[in-house]
Amino acid sequence: MQLVGAELLESREILPGQWLQAYHAPSLVTGSRAGQFVHVRTGDLSGLILRRPFSINTADGATGTITIHFRTVGRGTEWLTHLRPGDTIDMLGPLGRPFEVDAQSRHLLLIAGGLGMAGIRALADEAIRDGRQVTLLFGAASARDVYPTSLLPDEIEYVVATDDGSVGHRGFVTELVPEYEAWADQAFACGPEPMLRTLARLSVGRRGRLGVARLGRKRGGGRADPAGSPAARRKAFLQVSMEQRMGCAVGACLGCVVMTTSGTPQRVCREGPVFASEEIDWEGGWAR
Ligand code: FES
Repeated sequence: MQLVGAELLESREILPGQWLQAYHAPSLVTGSRAGQFVHVRTGDLSGLILRRPFSINTADGATGTITIHFRTVGRGTEWLTHLRPGDTIDMLGPLGRPFEVDAQSRHLLLIAGGLGMAGIRALADEAIRDGRQVTLLFGAASARDVYPTSLLPDEIEYVVATDDGSVGHRGFVTELVPEYEAWADQAFACGPEPMLRTLARLSVGRRGRLGVARLGRKRGGGRADPAGSPAARRKAFLQVSMEQRMGCAVGACLGCVVMTTSGTPQRVCREGPVFASEEIDWEGGWAR
């Protein structure tokens, strides 16, 4: 984890109210992994200093460039949109635990809802780089909210669902998942809580429908990895990146806690934001 001055290279509104910004921050790019995030010191237009967490949308080691994708929802994000190329902001990162892809997984199913694309986008790059096949399912309210194909790697299959049917499948993105559950070796998701909850349910049912064991574990044998460890998460079929509100983003304020099936609260900023879906207590109140 490092605190650096990141120089804005490019800033543009890619969807109504949604911005993509590229920053030069080579020391943050080094060692960062998909699923991690940065904590950015922003100001508001009255001069008040705030910090905001942003998923690492992409990280390009060759150019030392990191991108963040955000929606303007308040003073801090509004302030960011007024920055100009050459301006520098404080950026702390990389933070949090990343997605863990099993070495045996060849087919990855990525599922994003709305701004959840920001949490999953870097995994598409990593997977393509590692020679894996990727299908990305994306859900939005309507065509005007659909993440542009031009910002995705050419190698992936991109399938869209919209609530109003203005483009792609009419309905929820989760309705597309059963079609891919036999193809996918692992699935990774980021988006609104109802979407993640539905995916968690589908994931549990998948094991029964397809008669598969958990990845990498021999039937009836082998020692279980500790819940929450990278090794255990790597064996999970579904990993989710939680979009929880954050305060400090470094584990101190307990403002981002989710409840787990073991009854142990976990901090999204430290033990997450990526969890195996089976770690989360979806039915008993996932967030406190
Ligand atoms: S945001 Fe403070 S503990 Fe996670």
